[in-house]
Amino acid sequence: MRKSSSLFLKTAAFLVLTAVAVSSLSAALMFDKSEYAARRQKLMEKIPDGAAIIFGAQPIASYYPYAQNNDFMYLCGVELPNAALIIDGARKSCALFFTSTEAAARANGISADVVKNPKETTGIEVVLPYENLAGQLMRIGNQAKVLYTPFRPEELYREASMEKFMNLQQNMVLNPWDGRTTRELQFVKVLKERFPQLEVRDCTSMIWELRTIKSLAEIELMRKAGRIGVKAHTELMKATRPGMYEYELSAVLNYICEKEGAQESAYGVIISSGENQPYVHYAEHDRQLKDGDIIVVDAGPDLNYYDIDITITYPANGKFTPRQKEVYEAALAVHEANMKVYRPGLTPQQCRQEVEEILKKQGFDLNKDYFKRLRGGFGHYVGMATHDVGGGPQLLKPGMVFANEPMIIYADENLGVRVEDTILITETGCENLTAGIPRSVKDIEALMKKDGIPQVLKKAGLY
Ligand code: GLY
Ligand code: MN
Ligand code: MN
Repeated sequence: MRKSSSLFLKTAAFLVLTAVAVSSLSAALMFDKSEYAARRQKLMEKIPDGAAIIFGAQPIASYYPYAQNNDFMYLCGVELPNAALIIDGARKSCALFFTSTEAAARANGISADVVKNPKETTGIEVVLPYENLAGQLMRIGNQAKVLYTPFRPEELYREASMEKFMNLQQNMVLNPWDGRTTRELQFVKVLKERFPQLEVRDCTSMIWELRTIKSLAEIELMRKAGRIGVKAHTELMKATRPGMYEYELSAVLNYICEKEGAQESAYGVIISSGENQPYVHYAEHDRQLKDGDIIVVDAGPDLNYYDIDITITYPANGKFTPRQKEVYEAALAVHEANMKVYRPGLTPQQCRQEVEEILKKQGFDLNKDYFKRLRGGFGHYVGMATHDVGGGPQLLKPGMVFANEPMIIYADENLGVRVEDTILITETGCENLTAGIPRSVKDIEALMKKDGIPQVLKKAGLY
């Protein structure tokens, strides 16, 4: 899993850490193998006329740990560089291809269990050396009518597929000084050349459709990740004081995430304060907090390939000004009203209408400027990517997980507020996977009177 591999890379002591990586990896898959079998089965049902070929991530030449791409991980749960998976809907069988040794796996900080006992570990009935992929494809090509493969770019660590697609189009595919195609589209081209008699179709949306509805096992993992995120944000508020630099805030947050067993934040910790308020994804961490600042921190842990998205807004000095309070409470009221109306079958338009009714009953004047500036009803999906595949919900269904993230910004006042939690749609309503963060003005101000980790260490003369 990412956690162990990152530990591996965070030290130069190869031999010592090899032992850590191995001992910390008791289970090779993060979910039971039946979970992955069920996912493959669902994909098979969508492709009765052919077979899907999905490649795993290649090894990377960087100090980032090796991480599997999310679609491949979703379908078979193994971290193996240069692996391929065939899911054959016509013959109702699956095959995993890889070539590795136990030593090579360990040296990469990934599980050796898969390499030692691939069939038992993964539950995939056919496991063959990577070199056999060509022969197997020829056999399939002789029988199948359609070959499926994801046309969209693979989603790697800290990436989001759809944003990556746009980025690659702009900077590589359509760049007149570059013009390369993507790894995936190159493979499509090769398939079409080698199998001109077959149709080659995109199975991206089929996999993404599955990923959009979380299983019980995924939900349990995301609840756990959510609890870590809640702890990290709560500790962060306690630790914040005017005079601190934004990078110190990020350090506190990542410390708690890692201490609780998660990867550091799933995306670069976003901290907008002062003149950076309009930049909603600002992550330079270069400002020193001033008395009177309001701070927006958007961050969440990555736990075993699952991300959490949380934003808190709070005053650097622990006390909201009347203006900060007014705007903050408007965004919080929308966030809370959203939670009251989210349920299966709801559309964004219905959500907006019902939220407005609730706010009116609560005495809010919807003609106020901050309600006109407000953004946020159903946010983006959250899952293996923070901006998860499929965009965001248009009709809520049980098992969907997405961000409730209303936001109001007054750039001219250095005033921005965002209240964000990661929400699950249940059979009857919704569950806040990141419940428990002090959110009301009263609770935030009470919390910030307490000492956080830096103050405790300083008072004890330790740091
Ligand atoms: N965490 C990024 C976002 O909420 O868009
Ligand atoms: Mn966020
Ligand atoms: Mn978000």
